[in-house]
Amino acid sequence: MALIEKHKIIERNATLLLVLSLLVVTVGGLVEIVPLFFLQNTIEKVEGMRPYTPLELTGRDIYVREGCYVCHSQMIRPMRDEVERYGHYSLAAESMYDHPFQWGSKRTGPDLARVGGRYSDEWHVAHLINPQSVVPESVMPKYGFLLDRMIEPTYIRQRLETDRLVGVPYTDEMIENAVADFEAQADPEADTDGLLERYGDKVNVRNFDGRPGVSEMDALVAYLQMLGTLVDFSTFEPDASR
Ligand code: HEC
Repeated sequence: MALIEKHKIIERNATLLLVLSLLVVTVGGLVEIVPLFFLQNTIEKVEGMRPYTPLELTGRDIYVREGCYVCHSQMIRPMRDEVERYGHYSLAAESMYDHPFQWGSKRTGPDLARVGGRYSDEWHVAHLINPQSVVPESVMPKYGFLLDRMIEPTYIRQRLETDRLVGVPYTDEMIENAVADFEAQADPEADTDGLLERYGDKVNVRNFDGRPGVSEMDALVAYLQMLGTLVDFSTFEPDASR
């Protein structure tokens, strides 16, 4: 019997076709999925990664709340035009503490994965108040109201605990000092030894919006200014074994 004739038997018998299809899909699925269980991890560890400080994490929540991701991605693809424009391509490890991640694919505005340190705080504040004042053709909405919305860190401790629940390595000390660290980062007069000890001395400590008190603007700018700055790419070498 020719092969095509044999196949006819399968195609004319709905039950047989179904059973054999399921078999094929199962084998294919197992071949794809099973090896993943035997990998130690799928993310290459890189030096410099740390959890967000309480203030940055708050800024990140504001970023998500305001839907900045609708117009901005946070993932630089390893292609020449992107790398030349935005900097080193994004590493998986750079978003390992993001819940949820902000990679995105929509770029009405530029990618923000490495916007940290590119502009001054004053630029960010002026730009967020009125984007057209610095980029006349901008279609970005105005976010000046963030300046007037002051934040009390009432739930910051629970916020860190929640992230720890899903795998972010916040220590007990970080959680105990969440409120203090939150307040210290936006206050240049504060005692920041503990904050810097816990999160590293590269943490930006400033009055980000130039006004008294901690506003949503402070938190958002603190977040923007650290984006993509944790890994030192002058010393970074990709793991060649992968
Ligand atoms: C409707 C789309 C839209 C939304 C929503 C939006 N942006 Fe933008 N954004 C843009 C566009 C377009 C530009 C480029 C022109 C400019 O700089 O204003 C831009 C530029 C920027 C830049 C400068 C980037 C660079 O490399 O020059 C930053 C920072 C930024 N946006 C932050 C934010 C933040 C934070 C939010 C949320 C609070 C936000 N954007 C929401 C459209 C948007």
